[in-house]
Amino acid sequence: MSATASEPTSANDPLLSEAYFEKPEDILAELRENDPVHYIEPLDAWMITRYDDVRQLFIDPRVNNDRRYFQGHVPAPEGSYLRWMSEHNFFSAPEDEHQRMRNLVSKTMTPRGVKRMEGQIRDVVEQFAAKLRGRSGVVDLVSEFCSPIPNTVISRITGIPAKENDEVRFRNLAREVISGISPLLDPEARKIAERAIVELCEWVGELARERGAHPQEDLISDLLAKHDEDDPATVDEIILVIAGLVAAGSETTAVGATMGLRTLFHHPEQMAELRADRSLMPNAVREMLRFDFGAAGLPRYAVEDFEFHGKSIKKGQPLFLSFKGAHRDPSVFPDPDRFDLHRDTRDLTIFGRGTHYCIGANLAQLEMGIMLDAALDVIPEDAKLLDDQIEWMRMAMFSRVESLPVDFGQ
Ligand code: HEM
Repeated sequence: MSATASEPTSANDPLLSEAYFEKPEDILAELRENDPVHYIEPLDAWMITRYDDVRQLFIDPRVNNDRRYFQGHVPAPEGSYLRWMSEHNFFSAPEDEHQRMRNLVSKTMTPRGVKRMEGQIRDVVEQFAAKLRGRSGVVDLVSEFCSPIPNTVISRITGIPAKENDEVRFRNLAREVISGISPLLDPEARKIAERAIVELCEWVGELARERGAHPQEDLISDLLAKHDEDDPATVDEIILVIAGLVAAGSETTAVGATMGLRTLFHHPEQMAELRADRSLMPNAVREMLRFDFGAAGLPRYAVEDFEFHGKSIKKGQPLFLSFKGAHRDPSVFPDPDRFDLHRDTRDLTIFGRGTHYCIGANLAQLEMGIMLDAALDVIPEDAKLLDDQIEWMRMAMFSRVESLPVDFGQ
């Protein structure tokens, strides 16, 4: 592979090279050093790799995470549910509406609020861990464990009945709704997403009516209780909040757990240490998130033309804030390519910053900890990750682990 960060060409940008897929940290290190605001010509987009720049751009008013600012954005048809959702989600709602949506769920998501969900989370994790206990042969930890859990946790917290059929239906709907939020969508995918949103709205509406009459210990009942106060939440708001939690909290947590497990398998001594001392888990989770959350970048869209470190950013262009770029920045994390369960992880930027700071940060960390704890209990000590059989989804410079085959032995 010949592409390096110092010789980008339109056809051969280092971020689109095989070398980036194989070892993104090397390319990112070179960009961080020599071209920290890197123009990706084939995508007409930018990659930001320095920690300080990533932190700044999380809250810089010249950029925004509302996808409608993206130059390639094609609005959904007027009057459609998709259009409504694209204009009123956590990233696009007007400021006062956004703040209200945050207020509605913020109490539920405090460390104390989340602690109350611990039992529910453990139940869900056990539901999936039980199927792995005592297994032999090759087990895919993505499809059987990491991927379904976060979504099921959100459905349980929300108040979706804990019936297998309902949970699977919710999971499928959630996947289709999430895909509908993508800024580039073909007409067929749009139709599927539109149908899914309509179904989700009807479902949540029905649940809201039920919970109105018979409140339970769940988010819909909580939100409806607020409905009776001076500043009522509407059913529309409840739908938007739930869709937002599903969209933001499912795949992120699944990726965190998947990449975390992969990292542990790549560091057997630290995996053994964590197995033996689970009190290390909270910091281990954060270090896993720092070390490898994939090569993804969080998008921002320029709301105006502006100069950034001598580069001319044009209105509508996407800027990708590289988590891995920031988290491997040696000016903040000494010896950044070393995975270290005992590292100081306070400066993590994985949950963003400012008005859009992740509402689910406490939930995500608790949930990942419970997932990894259970995984270490059911994965035999001599199990082997079949690294060369991992399936990857690759799209431009982004890649995602789609399967994590682990040989549990006989
Ligand atoms: C490891 C897992 C997670 C990671 C890495 C993560 C990361 C993030 C980041 C970086 C943002 C800011 C986005 C931006 O500024 O553009 C965000 C926002 C958000 N996250 Fe998470 N998240 C995770 C899990 C969750 C969970 C479990 C939930 C809830 C169930 C959740 C709910 C949200 C919501 C609602 C927002 C939007 C907040 C707003 O715009 O005001 N996240 N998350």
